[in-house]
Parts: sequence; structure tokens; C-alpha cells
Amino acid sequence: MTPANNTGNETSNDKISFFRGQFVSPFNSTSGDASELFHFNNAGQTPMCRPALVMLEKWARRFYEEGAHVYPSLVKEMSEARKAVADVLGCQARELAFFQSAAGAISQVALGFDFKPGDEIIVWEQEYPSNLYPWNEAARRTGAKLVIAKNEPDFSTPVEALQRLITPRTRLIASSWVQFRTGAMLDLEALVELARPKGIFTCIDIIQGAGLLPFDFQASGIDAACGGSHKWMTGAHGAGFLALREENLERLTPLMFGAATITSPDYAPDLNGRPRSDSQRFEPGGKAFLEILALAEAAKLITDTGIARIAQEAEWLARNLMHGLREHGYVINSPHGPSHFRGAIVSFKPGPDSPLKSFAEIEKRLSDNHVSYGLRPPGVRLSPHAFNTLDEIERVLKLLST
Ligand SMILES: Cc1ncc(COP(=O)(O)O)c(C=O)c1O
Repeated sequence: MTPANNTGNETSNDKISFFRGQFVSPFNSTSGDASELFHFNNAGQTPMCRPALVMLEKWARRFYEEGAHVYPSLVKEMSEARKAVADVLGCQARELAFFQSAAGAISQVALGFDFKPGDEIIVWEQEYPSNLYPWNEAARRTGAKLVIAKNEPDFSTPVEALQRLITPRTRLIASSWVQFRTGAMLDLEALVELARPKGIFTCIDIIQGAGLLPFDFQASGIDAACGGSHKWMTGAHGAGFLALREENLERLTPLMFGAATITSPDYAPDLNGRPRSDSQRFEPGGKAFLEILALAEAAKLITDTGIARIAQEAEWLARNLMHGLREHGYVINSPHGPSHFRGAIVSFKPGPDSPLKSFAEIEKRLSDNHVSYGLRPPGVRLSPHAFNTLDEIERVLKLLST
């Protein structure tokens, strides 16, 4: 295989080496920890980065040893954590709310939005269920209508396909930025150009891009972005998030209510009190402190490495993987062309000339050799992150070559 050129310079290569050193993987001499496991399902769950692990261990011990004495420093570190995650997403800390999952964040938007009977909500047919069911339920509860957009035959999700479905009743478009099955990517700029002048709310599930691709919530112009900790962000499971534009914070009705919705348990209850004006109005009580603190460490690692460099490395690895799979006769489902490859999700299936002829054979070969993958129709999904190496790509390709 002739690898396409990776154009990183010396400084940015040092940064990627440093990033790589924060993960346990087989050919990773810098991490110091040996492993037999090959991580190619980063669109499913990444291995956690070392700073997240260190933070989890630190805070688990502190809770064990110090109980309520942790409180002052916990409040301070949580506030810094919110800022670190907000920084990597390009939003204000007061625009960022934490949930237990991306599904929780999406549900808050869907079920907290003031849909009226007859309103229309547009979603894609290939969406992950967590970005489908909340909208379906919102429509069911309010009498709004769910309008399903069909992707193109090549699985791409062009904004023109959404445009064709817009009517005067369209209130909201909910879409993944990067689709989980195929890596099809939505052009956010074109979407906002289309939706904003019509007053259509845009809610984007960014979980398959956040931590991997440059993203600036403020600059993007979208109204809400939802995501989570355990994929490309390289945190622990259990911290979903919602970035909601300042002007929309009080537009959504909180789904859950508790002491923290209005002020804090330190204040006497106020039965006439209104929910806080910042994003914490959506966080009713105690939080997933460990998971949020771990996510913040991962966010800092991504910021320190430079997300543009992370994207460049992961996309380069994924391009090499894609070219190699084609060379071995597999058919690529992902709508990536040589000039528009974005993200690092490669979906493929057996072809007439590929050595392995069925999904079952491919799955067996990968799992027998400790390579994680996702079976996500229409294909097997491999999704390298920037910590993977070209040696690993070559190893996977070799496994699939006979
Ligand atoms: C596009 C997309 N959204 C949401 C999720 C799920 O996130 P959570 O389990 O945090 O709700 C996934 C996970 O596979 C996903 O691919």
C-alpha cells in the first residue's frame, strides 16, 4: 500500500506523538502500556485517554476519603470543567448543560420545545435512534408531524434534500453532523443559510464529530448541539452535553426539576421561583461529577493537541484504510471522495473480488484478531482516531487481504 502523504510538520507531529502517548494501543511505544487490543470502533466507543483516567482515579479516591469535605474544591473544579468542555466546543460555559447521555440532551430539546399541532420536524432516515425517537415522541405528544428525509443512494445527506421538504410549517431540523453508519457529513454552513432566514431551529447531534473535527458552536450559527463523552472526545461513558445558544436558553422548558433548577439546596425553597437563566436550569440535581471531570480532561488534551491536527491525522489514517480496502476488492459505502473526505468513519462491504465474501467472515477475522469494529448496515464500520497508527491500519488491511 502506498500511503497518501500526511502533511503534518515537525511541531504538529510532536503534538500527535504526545496525543498518541495518552492512549493504550498495541504499536504505541510512547504510551508505555502494552495491549493486544486494536481500537477501530472509535465511532462506537474510544478507549479513554490517560488524563481522564487520572482524573477519575483522583476524584474516586477523594470521594472515598473526604466525603463532604470535597465540596469547595469540587465546585471550583466543576466550574473549570464546564469551561474546558465549552472551550473545545466553541460555546460559553453558561450555554453548556450536562446530561447523562447524548440522548438525554436531545430529549431535552425535543420535549422542551413548544411544538404546536401541525408543526413539522425534519429528520434523516439514517439517523441513530437516539436522534430519532425523541423527535418522534415530541411529535406524538404535541401533534407535530415528523418528516423523514431520504438520503441520496450513496448515503450522502445534502442540504438540498432537506430544502425540498421545507414548508411554511417547518419548525425544526434535527440532524447528525456526521452520520454514525456511513460518516456522511452535513454541510452545517449551508444548513444554517437555509434555516436561519426562515426561523427554523437547527438541532445538531455532533457526537460523531466533536473531539475529532474542528467545530465552533458560536460561529456555526446552529441553535443547539448535542453530544457525549465516550466517542471521539475520549472521555468516560456517562456525560452527555447540550450547547444551547444564549437566546434559546429560556426558550426550552426544562424536562426535569430539582433543587438546582432554580438556585441550590443552600437556599430556602421558593415555590414561585423561576428556573435559572443559564444552562444549569436543565441540570436538576447532583451531577455525574466523575464523568464530567474526566470529559474535561479529555477536552483539554484535545485543545492542547490542536483539533485541526487531530482531524488531519485521523482523516489521513482513514483515507489510507479506505484506499487499502478498495485495493483488496471491498466496496466502500461511505460517501467520501478523494477531494471531500471528512471524518474518520469508513463503512465497507464485501465485493466480487474481495477475499472475504460475507459480513460474518469479516467479523470473525476482525474479532479473532482483537480488532474492534461496528456492524452497522450497510456495512462493517471501521473508525480510526488520531491515536491509531499506520502500522495498525496496515495490520488490519493484511488481515482482510486473504
Ligand atoms: C449519532 C449518534 N448519536 C447519539 C449516540 C448515542 O449517544 P448516547 O448513548 O450518549 O445517547 C450515538 C452512539 O452510537 C450516535 O452514533
